[in-house]
Amino acid sequence: MMPASPDLSGTDKKVALVTGMAGDIGLAIARRLAADGYQIAGVDKDQERLHTVLAENSDLRAVTRPLCCDVTRPADVERMAVAARKIGAVCLLVNNAGAVTSPSLQSTSFADFAQDTDLNLNAPFNCFCALSGDLIANRGNVINIASANATGVYGHPGYSAAKAGLIHLTRLIAVEYGKFGVRANAVSPGTVQTNAWARRARNEPEIFERLKQRFPLQRIVTTTDIANAVSFLASDAAAAITGACLDVDCGLSAGRAEEARAFSRSDDY
Ligand SMILES: NC(=O)c1ccc[n+]([C@@H]2O[C@H](COP(=O)([O-])OP(=O)(O)OC[C@H]3O[C@@H](n4cnc5c(N)ncnc54)[C@H](O)[C@@H]3O)[C@@H](O)[C@H]2O)c1
Repeated sequence: MMPASPDLSGTDKKVALVTGMAGDIGLAIARRLAADGYQIAGVDKDQERLHTVLAENSDLRAVTRPLCCDVTRPADVERMAVAARKIGAVCLLVNNAGAVTSPSLQSTSFADFAQDTDLNLNAPFNCFCALSGDLIANRGNVINIASANATGVYGHPGYSAAKAGLIHLTRLIAVEYGKFGVRANAVSPGTVQTNAWARRARNEPEIFERLKQRFPLQRIVTTTDIANAVSFLASDAAAAITGACLDVDCGLSAGRAEEARAFSRSDDY
C-alpha cells in the first residue's frame, strides 16, 4: 500500500531536495538531513521504490514529500521545482541521482555516452537552474555527488567524464553564485556497497572483500560516510567552504600502498 504523503504545505521550514532518494546513498543522505532538521523533497524516477523506501522508514516519511521525476527531463524538473517550493524554503539541492552505462571506451556508443552525460551532468545542471532562484533567496547550498571516477581511470568512461564535468560545474556555481551567498561543493565517493552494485555482487559475492585491499583504510565507504559529508558541507560549520570537492573514498584518490611499495622499494607501505 502506498504511504500517505504528509501535508507539509505552508511550513516555513527549510527544505532539502535530494535526487535519487530511493537509492541507498540518497536514502542515507535524506535520513541524515531529516535529522538535521530539514523537510525532504525526495526525488526519484522509480516511484514504486520511492514509496517502498518511505513505507519502510516511517520517521523519514513524516518529513518527506516523495516527488516522482526523471531528472533528465527538463519538463519533469520544472514540475519538481514547483512542487518542492510548495513544501517550504528550498535551501539545499543534493544532486545524487546517477548511474553508469558501458565499462570501456571501446564498448561505449555515442548513445551510451549521451545517456551518461544526460544523467550525471546535464540533469544536475537542469536541477540547479530550476532552483537557482530559491537558492539565492534562501542563501542556500548545492551539493553534487561526484565519484572517484572523476579524477582517476577506473572504467565507465561516459560516467567518469560526466562526473569530472560535475566537479567543474560545482566550481562554476561557486564562483558565479558566491556573491548571492550560495555555496556549491561536491562529495566524491569511492566504492559504496549499494544497489548499483547488486548485479555484480550477485555474480561475484567476494567483490567487496577483494576491493577493500585497494583502499588505504582497507575498507570501503558506507552510505553513512557520504551522508555525514553532505551534512557537514550543508552546515554552517562549512560556511567558508565553497567550490571544494571532498573525497570520501577511504584514501583511494590519495594513492595506493602497492604502487608506493613498488616505486620506493620500501616495505613500510
Ligand atoms: N555506489 C558507489 O560505489 C558509488 C561510488 C561513487 C559515486 N556514486 C554516486 O552516488 C550516487 C548514488 O549512487 P547509489 O550507489 O546510491 O546508486 P543507486 O542505484 O542505489 O541509486 C540511484 C538512484 O537514482 C535514481 N535515478 C536514476 N536515474 C534517475 C533519473 N533519471 N531521475 C531520477 N532518479 C533517477 C534511481 O532510481 C535510484 O533510486 C550516484 O550519483 C553515483 O554515481 C556511487
